[in-house]
Amino acid sequence: MTNSLNKSHGRKAIRPSLKPRELMTATPDLVGVWKAKILTLFPTAFPGVLGESLTGKALQEGLWQLETVDLRQFGVGKHRNVDDTPAGGGAGMVLRADVLGKAIDHAMDGVTGNHPLIYLSPRGKPMDQQMMQNLARADGVTLLCGRFEGVDERVLQHYGIQEVSLGDFVMTGGEIAAQALIDATVRLIPNVLGNFASTEEESFSSGLLEHPQYTRPAEWKGRKIPDVLMSGHHGKVAQWRHDMSEEITQNRRPDLWDAYKGSADSKD
Ligand SMILES: C[S@@+](CC[C@H](N)C(=O)[O-])C[C@H]1O[C@@H](n2cnc3c(N)ncnc32)[C@H](O)[C@@H]1O
Repeated sequence: MTNSLNKSHGRKAIRPSLKPRELMTATPDLVGVWKAKILTLFPTAFPGVLGESLTGKALQEGLWQLETVDLRQFGVGKHRNVDDTPAGGGAGMVLRADVLGKAIDHAMDGVTGNHPLIYLSPRGKPMDQQMMQNLARADGVTLLCGRFEGVDERVLQHYGIQEVSLGDFVMTGGEIAAQALIDATVRLIPNVLGNFASTEEESFSSGLLEHPQYTRPAEWKGRKIPDVLMSGHHGKVAQWRHDMSEEITQNRRPDLWDAYKGSADSKD
């Protein structure tokens, strides 16, 4: 890679690279840039899909930054053990409080501002768009990825860690949930999506699910694009899209529909 490819952003030179792991920034930080710190037993799982497409380009350009902390480094003894059997018996293993404590202290050292500490957990608050909007406005986030039967409860209590869930199912680890959270958050950071997409008209932004989308060809396997979308009449297109958003939300998500109607009624 030649120096002519380097980009200066006034904070630190960014070296373009096609290798996802090289997109991850090492400390020292890019000052004022949203940062995700991930505590995981599998640091090579990152940036994973976050290194692709728009999030990958934004990472490369220093619009956000990613740092992994390898839990194994804080393991106990010659074998760097990170887990032990559950107190009281039962199946599986639990991530040790002393190991996690050292890793968290390391990760949070020097962290300032609004930078929540989150444990990805099926017991947590379900992720939603409002949560992602709040996180995108923060200075960054530290994410603890569990494995095995999870983490020692005392760690959650001691650090006041928020638990956040990807949904009502159980995965083998928190890494996929962490990537989902980061993806949904980073795309809300200014300039990350560029001109490619608008976050203002998509599902959840107005409290409704999105209307159907179509593109060429105008007819496919006997199915035509709705005439109104081909009419060129912007007012009618907007009305049709709004009506479809309402219909889809009402049919698929009565919970969202009730909340939407409730907030619309309270404005009347
Ligand atoms: C096998 S799970 C542990 C499940 C735990 N014993 C329970 O029943 O709640 C291992 C790890 O995967 C992660 N995980 C699993 N399902 C998740 C979900 N729905 N959302 C977020 N993280 C999840 C958590 O970090 C968890 O510590």
